[in-house]
Parts: sequence; C-alpha cells; structure tokens
Amino acid sequence: MKVEKTKKNSKKVIKKLFDLTGKVAIVTGAAGQLGGEYVRALLKAGASVSAFDIRLDNPKGRLKEIDSDKLLPVRVNITSRKSVEQGLRIVLSHFGKPHILINNAAIDVPPNASEHDTGPFETCSESSWKIMMDVNLKGIFLCCQVIGGYMAETGGGSIINISSIYGILSPDQRIYAYKEKPFFKPATYCVSKAGVLNLTRYLATYWSGKNIRVNTLTLGGVFNNQDKKFLKNYTNKVPLGRMARQDEYNGAILFLASDASSYMTGSNIIIDGGYSCW
Ligand SMILES: NC(=O)c1ccc[n+]([C@@H]2O[C@H](COP(=O)([O-])OP(=O)(O)OC[C@H]3O[C@@H](n4cnc5c(N)ncnc54)[C@H](O)[C@@H]3O)[C@@H](O)[C@H]2O)c1
Repeated sequence: MKVEKTKKNSKKVIKKLFDLTGKVAIVTGAAGQLGGEYVRALLKAGASVSAFDIRLDNPKGRLKEIDSDKLLPVRVNITSRKSVEQGLRIVLSHFGKPHILINNAAIDVPPNASEHDTGPFETCSESSWKIMMDVNLKGIFLCCQVIGGYMAETGGGSIINISSIYGILSPDQRIYAYKEKPFFKPATYCVSKAGVLNLTRYLATYWSGKNIRVNTLTLGGVFNNQDKKFLKNYTNKVPLGRMARQDEYNGAILFLASDASSYMTGSNIIIDGGYSCW
C-alpha cells in the first residue's frame, strides 16, 4: 500500500516539474521538421502554442494534422520586425502573454543544395551570407527584442535559442567528400549558429533580475533519409552510431521550457550522440 502511494506521489512530482499548463509558448520555424515536434511536445505538456512560420504549409511539420484548440498557427517572417510585432499582437489577443519562446527557425544548406551555396569558401556568395545571417541571426535578434522584451517587462519566462554542433565545432568537410562535385558545408551557417551562443549569454545577463531565463540548445544531425554514403561518414563520427530521431530533442525542450530548469540561464545544452566528444 505504502509503495503504491509513494509511486503515485513521485509521478505527481515529476509531472508537476515539467507541467506547462496555463503557459503560452511561441515556436518559430514551427512548420519545419523539428519545430513540428516541439509544438506537439509543448501541447502534450499542457501549453497553448503559437506556431510561427513563413511557410505554414511546409509538409515537414505536419501542423495541419494537429487537432487542438490550443494551437495557433501564425504566418510570420522573422526577418521583419513589423511581422514579428504583428505575430505577437495576434498571440496576445488569442492566448495572452507568452511565457516561452523557442527560436528554432533557421536556414541550412542541405547536402543536395545548389553549387552557388556550397562552393569553396573563397567564392561563397555574399547573397548566401546575407540570407543566412538574416534568418539565422537577425531573426533571433528581432524575436528576442520584440517577444523577449515583452516577456521581460511582463513577469519573465524562458527563451530557448537553437544552435547546432556546427556552432561549436568546425564541420569535418571529409564527411561530404563522397560527392561527385566538391561540396563544402558553408562557413555562413556555422558562423550564424556560433553567434546564437553569445546572444544567449548576452541576454541572460542583460535581463538579469527580470525573471527571464535564456539558454541555448545545441543539436546534432537528425535522420531525414539522407544519402547512404553521407550517413556512413557522419555516423562514423558519432559514438552512439546513428543520427538523432526527430523526437529526441523534445525532452530537452520540455526541461528548458519548464520549472525543471529553474536555476539555469546563459547555458548551453549539447545533444549530439557524442559527436563533440572527440
Ligand atoms: N535538422 C538537423 O539535422 C539540425 C541539426 C542541428 C541543428 N538544427 C537546427 O534546428 C532548427 C530546425 O531545423 P529543421 O531541420 O527542423 O529545419 P527545417 O528546415 O525543417 O525548418 C525550418 C523552418 O523555418 C522556417 N523559416 C525559414 N525562414 C523563416 C523566416 N524568415 N521566418 C519564419 N520562419 C522561417 C521554414 O519555413 C521551416 O519551416 C534550426 O535552427 C537548425 O539550424 C537542425
């Protein structure tokens, strides 16, 4: 009898630790492969979720399949301050004050990208630099200014900025050497993802005393039916021997979004199957 009661109590304690009932979350890039996962995880934890994306019909996130009155999709271009402000106004009128902001939207250069974006460093185009910096850094900067600024003035919350192993390490270009034409993971993506880490630290200290926590979540590569040769080269570098499943970052998202991480700010959680251990 006593054991049963203790089990029930510990389940309650764990549920309470990660519970997001009554919280309002905004996820950018919510219609993408990982954004869609985060939306589902936050809804399951009890939050109301506003899904920001420039392309809400992106098939990767399967947002259309979610049947919940706690989901609010909003078309937002995070590179435009006006658009972010308009998005926040819609969230405020629908759900009220946001408590959680996940800066997830970004542009990457996948292995099948055009030569224009993936040529040698010396000839990498300025236009490719501009668009990646605009979305991957200016976009987070604007969302933090507008939405984070509002949160800081209205009681605080939790901001999660998404980075990549290529924000903390240089890519091993040999992974891509199986291709017929030379392919280089561009410096632009890596530099933009490195910038995320210090924007996080800057804001964690800037908003000190405002009850707002700002952390980075750094991710390793996610399986997405990549070329077999790429998979072999990449997974050879991963101690766990595989790429991540797309649901394997949800635990960290709920940890950072909830009171389970109440003493954490300015930090970086790395989840990469051990890629960065070498
Ligand atoms: N998938 C991976 O292997 C991987 C690995 C490490 C880090 N990450 C990071 O995780 C995050 C999500 O990656 P993903 O694979 O789900 O990407 P994705 O391409 O599937 O989704 C990105 C989403 O961002 C949206 N977006 C692009 N520009 C926008 C803009 N200006 N305004 C609003 N939305 C915009 C896109 O429409 C898309 O739905 C990114 O920050 C990425 O760098 C991904």
